[in-house]
Amino acid sequence: MKNIILIGFMGVGKGSVAREVIKQSKYMAIDTDDLIESMENRRIKKIFEEDGEKYFRELEKNVSQWLQKSVKNTLISTGGGFYKTENLKNIGTVVLLDSPFKDIIKRIKAHPNAVKKLKKRPLLQDLEAAQKLYDERRPEYIALADVVLDVTKKSAYECAKELLKKVEKNV
Ligand code: S3P
Repeated sequence: MKNIILIGFMGVGKGSVAREVIKQSKYMAIDTDDLIESMENRRIKKIFEEDGEKYFRELEKNVSQWLQKSVKNTLISTGGGFYKTENLKNIGTVVLLDSPFKDIIKRIKAHPNAVKKLKKRPLLQDLEAAQKLYDERRPEYIALADVVLDVTKKSAYECAKELLKKVEKNV
Protein backbone atom coordinates (compact mmCIF):
# COMPACT_ATOMS: atom_id res chain seq x y z
CA MET A 1 0.00 0.00 0.00
CA LYS A 2 1.43 3.34 -1.11
CA ASN A 3 0.58 6.52 0.76
CA ILE A 4 -2.40 8.46 -0.57
CA ILE A 5 -1.97 12.18 -0.41
CA LEU A 6 -5.16 14.24 -0.54
CA ILE A 7 -4.86 17.71 -2.01
CA GLY A 8 -7.45 20.36 -2.84
CA PHE A 9 -8.78 23.78 -1.97
CA MET A 10 -9.74 24.84 1.57
CA GLY A 11 -13.15 23.51 2.57
CA VAL A 12 -13.47 20.99 -0.27
CA GLY A 13 -13.85 18.18 2.29
CA LYS A 14 -10.40 16.57 2.60
CA GLY A 15 -10.91 15.87 6.31
CA SER A 16 -14.39 14.38 5.90
CA VAL A 17 -13.32 12.17 2.99
CA ALA A 18 -10.23 11.03 4.92
CA ARG A 19 -12.41 9.98 7.88
CA GLU A 20 -14.60 7.91 5.52
CA VAL A 21 -11.61 6.30 3.78
CA ILE A 22 -10.39 5.09 7.18
CA LYS A 23 -13.77 3.47 7.82
CA GLN A 24 -13.81 1.75 4.44
CA SER A 25 -10.18 0.57 4.25
CA LYS A 26 -7.08 -0.45 6.20
CA TYR A 27 -5.45 2.96 5.88
CA MET A 28 -4.35 4.95 8.91
CA ALA A 29 -4.68 8.69 8.47
CA ILE A 30 -2.85 11.88 9.36
CA ASP A 31 -3.41 15.54 8.54
CA THR A 32 -0.60 18.01 7.83
CA ASP A 33 -2.39 20.92 9.55
CA ASP A 34 -2.90 18.78 12.68
CA LEU A 35 0.79 17.82 12.66
CA ILE A 36 1.82 21.46 12.39
CA GLU A 37 -0.56 22.55 15.15
CA SER A 38 0.79 19.91 17.52
CA MET A 39 4.43 20.64 16.64
CA GLU A 40 3.86 24.34 17.30
CA ASN A 41 1.31 23.90 20.08
CA ARG A 42 -0.88 26.64 18.56
CA ARG A 43 -3.60 26.98 15.96
CA ILE A 44 -2.90 27.71 12.28
CA LYS A 45 -4.72 31.02 12.66
CA LYS A 46 -2.31 32.01 15.49
CA ILE A 47 0.73 30.91 13.48
CA PHE A 48 -0.37 33.17 10.59
CA GLU A 49 -1.06 36.07 12.99
CA GLU A 50 2.15 35.76 14.98
CA ASP A 51 4.68 34.61 12.38
CA GLY A 52 3.06 35.05 8.98
CA GLU A 53 2.33 32.82 6.02
CA LYS A 54 5.99 32.43 4.99
CA TYR A 55 6.83 30.81 8.31
CA PHE A 56 3.82 28.49 7.96
CA ARG A 57 5.03 27.40 4.51
CA GLU A 58 8.43 26.53 6.00
CA LEU A 59 6.68 24.30 8.50
CA GLU A 60 4.81 22.60 5.65
CA LYS A 61 8.14 21.98 3.93
CA ASN A 62 9.54 20.30 7.04
CA VAL A 63 6.46 18.13 7.38
CA SER A 64 6.69 17.16 3.73
CA GLN A 65 10.31 16.01 4.11
CA TRP A 66 9.40 14.02 7.18
CA LEU A 67 6.44 12.37 5.43
CA GLN A 68 8.61 11.26 2.54
CA LYS A 69 11.21 9.73 4.84
CA SER A 70 9.10 8.26 7.58
CA VAL A 71 5.47 7.61 6.66
CA LYS A 72 4.13 4.55 4.87
CA ASN A 73 0.73 2.95 4.14
CA THR A 74 -1.04 6.10 5.23
CA LEU A 75 -3.72 8.44 3.99
CA ILE A 76 -2.37 11.96 4.32
CA SER A 77 -4.76 14.89 4.13
CA THR A 78 -3.11 18.23 3.53
CA GLY A 79 -3.76 21.95 3.90
CA GLY A 80 -4.84 23.64 0.66
CA GLY A 81 -1.37 25.11 -0.01
CA PHE A 82 0.67 22.04 0.92
CA TYR A 83 0.77 20.90 -2.72
CA LYS A 84 3.50 23.49 -3.31
CA THR A 85 6.07 21.50 -1.35
CA GLU A 86 8.76 20.29 -3.75
CA ASN A 87 8.71 16.60 -2.92
CA LEU A 88 4.93 16.08 -2.90
CA LYS A 89 5.00 13.51 -5.71
CA ASN A 90 7.57 11.41 -3.83
CA ILE A 91 5.27 10.94 -0.85
CA GLY A 92 2.58 8.86 -2.55
CA THR A 93 -0.34 8.79 -4.97
CA VAL A 94 -1.66 12.32 -5.25
CA VAL A 95 -5.46 12.55 -5.20
CA LEU A 96 -7.16 15.86 -5.93
CA LEU A 97 -10.59 16.54 -4.44
CA ASP A 98 -12.05 18.85 -7.05
CA SER A 99 -15.11 21.09 -7.00
CA PRO A 100 -16.05 24.55 -8.34
CA PHE A 101 -15.35 27.46 -5.97
CA LYS A 102 -19.03 28.34 -5.52
CA ASP A 103 -19.84 24.77 -4.46
CA ILE A 104 -16.98 24.74 -1.95
CA ILE A 105 -18.28 27.93 -0.35
CA LYS A 106 -21.83 26.55 -0.38
CA ARG A 107 -20.55 23.41 1.35
CA ILE A 108 -18.81 25.40 4.10
CA LYS A 109 -21.82 27.66 4.64
CA ALA A 110 -24.17 24.68 4.94
CA HIS A 111 -22.12 23.21 7.81
CA PRO A 112 -23.54 23.63 11.35
CA ASN A 113 -20.14 25.05 12.39
CA ALA A 114 -19.83 27.33 9.34
CA VAL A 115 -18.73 30.44 11.24
CA LYS A 116 -15.97 28.57 13.01
CA LYS A 117 -14.90 26.87 9.78
CA LEU A 118 -14.54 30.20 8.01
CA LYS A 119 -12.88 31.96 10.95
CA LYS A 120 -10.11 29.41 11.42
CA ARG A 121 -8.89 29.82 7.80
CA PRO A 122 -6.85 33.02 7.36
CA LEU A 123 -6.98 32.76 3.55
CA LEU A 124 -10.78 32.53 3.45
CA GLN A 125 -11.47 35.84 5.17
CA ASP A 126 -11.89 37.75 1.92
CA LEU A 127 -13.97 35.67 -0.49
CA GLU A 128 -12.95 37.66 -3.56
CA ALA A 129 -9.27 37.06 -2.82
CA ALA A 130 -10.04 33.40 -2.08
CA GLN A 131 -11.75 33.02 -5.48
CA LYS A 132 -8.62 34.49 -7.11
CA LEU A 133 -6.41 32.06 -5.20
CA TYR A 134 -8.67 29.20 -6.29
CA ASP A 135 -8.41 30.25 -9.95
CA GLU A 136 -4.60 30.40 -9.69
CA ARG A 137 -4.29 27.08 -7.91
CA ARG A 138 -6.76 24.89 -9.76
CA PRO A 139 -4.61 24.25 -12.87
CA GLU A 140 -1.64 23.52 -10.59
CA TYR A 141 -3.68 21.03 -8.56
CA ILE A 142 -4.80 19.31 -11.78
CA ALA A 143 -1.25 19.15 -13.12
CA LEU A 144 0.02 17.41 -9.97
CA ALA A 145 -2.80 14.94 -9.45
CA ASP A 146 -2.48 11.25 -10.28
CA VAL A 147 -6.20 10.93 -9.63
CA VAL A 148 -8.87 13.64 -9.87
CA LEU A 149 -12.06 13.11 -7.93
CA ASP A 150 -15.02 15.40 -8.56
CA VAL A 151 -16.65 15.69 -5.13
CA THR A 152 -19.44 18.12 -6.07
CA LYS A 153 -22.77 17.20 -4.46
CA LYS A 154 -21.43 13.82 -3.32
CA SER A 155 -21.41 12.51 0.25
CA ALA A 156 -18.11 11.75 1.98
CA TYR A 157 -19.13 8.08 1.86
CA GLU A 158 -19.52 8.16 -1.94
CA CYS A 159 -16.27 10.09 -2.39
CA ALA A 160 -14.32 7.61 -0.27
CA LYS A 161 -15.73 4.65 -2.18
CA GLU A 162 -14.84 6.22 -5.52
CA LEU A 163 -11.41 7.27 -4.27
CA LEU A 164 -10.47 3.77 -3.16
CA LYS A 165 -11.60 2.30 -6.47
CA LYS A 166 -9.64 4.87 -8.51
CA VAL A 167 -6.49 4.56 -6.40
CA GLU A 168 -6.53 0.79 -6.75
CA LYS A 169 -6.59 1.14 -10.53
CA ASN A 170 -3.80 3.73 -10.43
CA VAL A 171 -1.32 1.68 -8.41
C1 S3P B 1 -4.34 26.86 3.55
C2 S3P B 1 -5.27 25.88 3.85
C3 S3P B 1 -5.59 25.47 5.23
C4 S3P B 1 -4.37 25.70 6.13
C5 S3P B 1 -3.90 27.13 6.04
C6 S3P B 1 -3.52 27.53 4.60
C7 S3P B 1 -4.12 27.22 2.13
O1 S3P B 1 -5.96 24.11 5.29
O2 S3P B 1 -3.33 24.83 5.79
O3 S3P B 1 -4.94 27.94 6.51
O4 S3P B 1 -3.08 27.84 1.80
O5 S3P B 1 -4.98 26.87 1.30
P1 S3P B 1 -7.39 23.54 4.72
O6 S3P B 1 -7.20 23.28 3.26
O7 S3P B 1 -7.62 22.29 5.49
O8 S3P B 1 -8.40 24.58 4.99
